[in-house]
Amino acid sequence: MAETDGACSGTLTEPLTPAANLIVALRGAKSVFVLTGSGISAESGLPTFRGVGGLWRTHRVEELASPEGFASDPVLVWTWYNERKAAHEAAQPNAGHLALAQMEDAFDDFTIATQNVDSLHLRAGSRNVLELHGSLREARCTNCSARRPLDAAGLPCQEIDHSCGGRWRPDIVWFGESLPRDVWQKAQEAAARADVILVVGTSAVVYPAAALATHYNARAFVAEINPQPTPISSRVACTLRGPAAEVLPRIYPSGAVVSE
Ligand code: APR
Repeated sequence: MAETDGACSGTLTEPLTPAANLIVALRGAKSVFVLTGSGISAESGLPTFRGVGGLWRTHRVEELASPEGFASDPVLVWTWYNERKAAHEAAQPNAGHLALAQMEDAFDDFTIATQNVDSLHLRAGSRNVLELHGSLREARCTNCSARRPLDAAGLPCQEIDHSCGGRWRPDIVWFGESLPRDVWQKAQEAAARADVILVVGTSAVVYPAAALATHYNARAFVAEINPQPTPISSRVACTLRGPAAEVLPRIYPSGAVVSE
C-alpha cells in the first residue's frame, strides 16, 4: 500500500488505489457498517471454519453445530464448545479488532455485525456490536429458556441436564436455526443506512449474514478485506487483499477518515 508511505509522486490523472478510494469514502461517511467473520480473529490464533485447518475441515458440522447433533450427543457438543471457549479466553483482540474499536469513535453511526462468537470485538472495546450467531458467554435451557453465565471453563458436562427437564445448550445459532430476531433486524437496518460497508474476514457463503454485505444497500461503498477472493468480491467497490490486522490499522490511523 505505497499510498501510505507519504511520498507524493505521479499525476492527478492516475486512478486512486483501492485503499485510497476507501479512505475517501470513509472521509465522507456518516454511517459505517462492518460485517465480520472468523478471519478477523485468525491473527488472534483462532481457527477459521473453512480455511486451512479450519474447524469444519477437522470436525463434522452436523454433529457439533446442529440441534440434531446436540440431541444425539450433548457431551460431544459441550466438550467441543468448552475447548473453543477456553481458546477464546486465551486469545487477545488483535490490531484489526482494535482498529475497528477506535474507528467507532470517529463516526456518528458505526455498527459491527459479527458472525463470531468469541467476544473479541467487545473485548477490544467496541460498543455497538451485533452478535448474529450468538456468543459463548452464556448457556440457555432448551426447555424453559433460563440462562446461566459460562466461565472460562464453559459448562461441566455433568451439569448439562437442567432441573426443569431441559438441557443447557450453548447460546449459539446453529445450522437450521434462525438468527435472534432483534439482532437481525438491527443489522439489516444498519446495513441499509450505511454510507460505507466493510466486509472483513468472512467467506460470505453463510446466509442470511452474508446478505448484509450487498443485499440491503445499493448506494453504499462496499469494501472487502480478505486475503482471498469470495463470492461477493465481484460485487463490491473495493477489495483489499490482506490480513485484517494489517489492513484495518492502515485504513484508520491515517487520520484521513475523521468525518468532517
Ligand atoms: N484477515 C482477514 N480475512 C481472513 C484472514 C485474515 N487474517 N484469515 C482468513 N481470512 C478469511 C478467509 O480467506 C475466509 O474467506 O476469512 C474467511 C473465513 O471464512 P470461514 O472460515 O468460512 O468463516 P466465516 O465466514 O466466519 O463463517 C461464517 O459459518 O460455520 C459457520 O457459524 C459459522 O459464523 C460462521 C459462519
